[in-house]
This record gives sequence, structure tokens and C-alpha cells, in this order.
Amino acid sequence: MPEVSPPALLLDLPTLAATEALARRVGALLHREDAVLLSGPLGAGKSAFARALLRDLVGDPAMDVPSPSFTLVQSYDTPRGVVHHYDLWRLEPGPDLRELGLDEAFRDIALIEWPDRLGDLTPPDALAIDLMPVSEEARRARLTGWPDRLEALAA
Ligand SMILES: Nc1ncnc2c1ncn2[C@@H]1O[C@H](COP(=O)(O)OP(=O)(O)O)[C@@H](O)[C@H]1O
Ligand SMILES: [Mg+2]
Repeated sequence: MPEVSPPALLLDLPTLAATEALARRVGALLHREDAVLLSGPLGAGKSAFARALLRDLVGDPAMDVPSPSFTLVQSYDTPRGVVHHYDLWRLEPGPDLRELGLDEAFRDIALIEWPDRLGDLTPPDALAIDLMPVSEEARRARLTGWPDRLEALAA
């Protein structure tokens, strides 16, 4: 059978502000049991996206959103429910994955940097956002998943 590629939304993000605006649009559509997977190379803007989304959901534009690259996960109470922000960059493959509380996180809301580390545990219904650097300030985003909501994320 020929491979059918899933519908994708391609967005130009010419500035950090554009990335932050996309993060707020995603946040506005989030509910429990959603997962958002943030891929892209170091410096692509995954953490900047997560910070903007969390600040907007909590309603505090100055909230501290530390990178959970050492703790691996940081959880936030928001009016939408608990959001678990993962940064799996340092995760070693293997049993560590079982100790991350992913079952619970997938019942709440999960926001995951470096989701390639999840392997078999990747949630199938997630919104996947791949951020590609274009220049110092510009990014291109490729969004897949969320078939019923993808269109609402176009600017
Ligand atoms: N359009 C843009 N989108 C996201 N980040 C941008 C953009 N333009 C510049 N930046 C900068 O790029 C850096 C991205 O860093 P960060 O979010 O930590 O990346 P990652 O988590 O993907 O490693 C930040 O310093 C941010 O200000
Ligand atoms: Mg990061």
C-alpha cells in the first residue's frame, strides 16, 4: 500500500512573538488527556514555546518556567488542569522512561520536548510540532495530529 502522509499544517514563524502566539493558540485548545510533542534541534524554540503556553494558561506573563532538562519534568497547576512539562534531552534510553510518571501525565496534559526519546510510549493522538530554524529569528513549524483541531491553529 502506498504510504499516506498525515495532513500537516506548515506555518512561518518570522519572530519569537509569532512562535509565542502559536503557543497561545495551542494552549487555548488544550484539554485533559492532550499531549503536545515539541521537536527540533537545540535552540529551535521548543522551550520558548512551552514557556509562552504555560504563562498564558496560568495567566502570569512573568511566571518562572525553568527548563526541566535535569529534573526531566516540571508540573504546573492551570485552570485547564495540570500540565506536565518534560524535557527528555538527557534521558538515557531504557528503564528510566518508566519512572517519569508518563501514565499520569497522559491523563492530565503533557508538553514534551525531545519526544523521540519516548519510543513505544509516544502517545498516538498527540499534536506534534516540529520547529525548524530558518534564520536567527525565523522558524518554520510543521504541525501534525489533532485532525479536528489542526485548522484552528492556522494564524
Ligand atoms: N521565531 C522564534 N521562535 C522561537 N524562538 C526564537 C525565535 N527567534 C529567536 N528565538 C530565540 O531562540 C532561542 C530558542 O531557545 P529555546 O526555546 O531554549 O530552544 P530549544 O528549547 O528548542 O532548545 C531563544 O533564545 C529565543 O529567544
Ligand atoms: Mg529546550
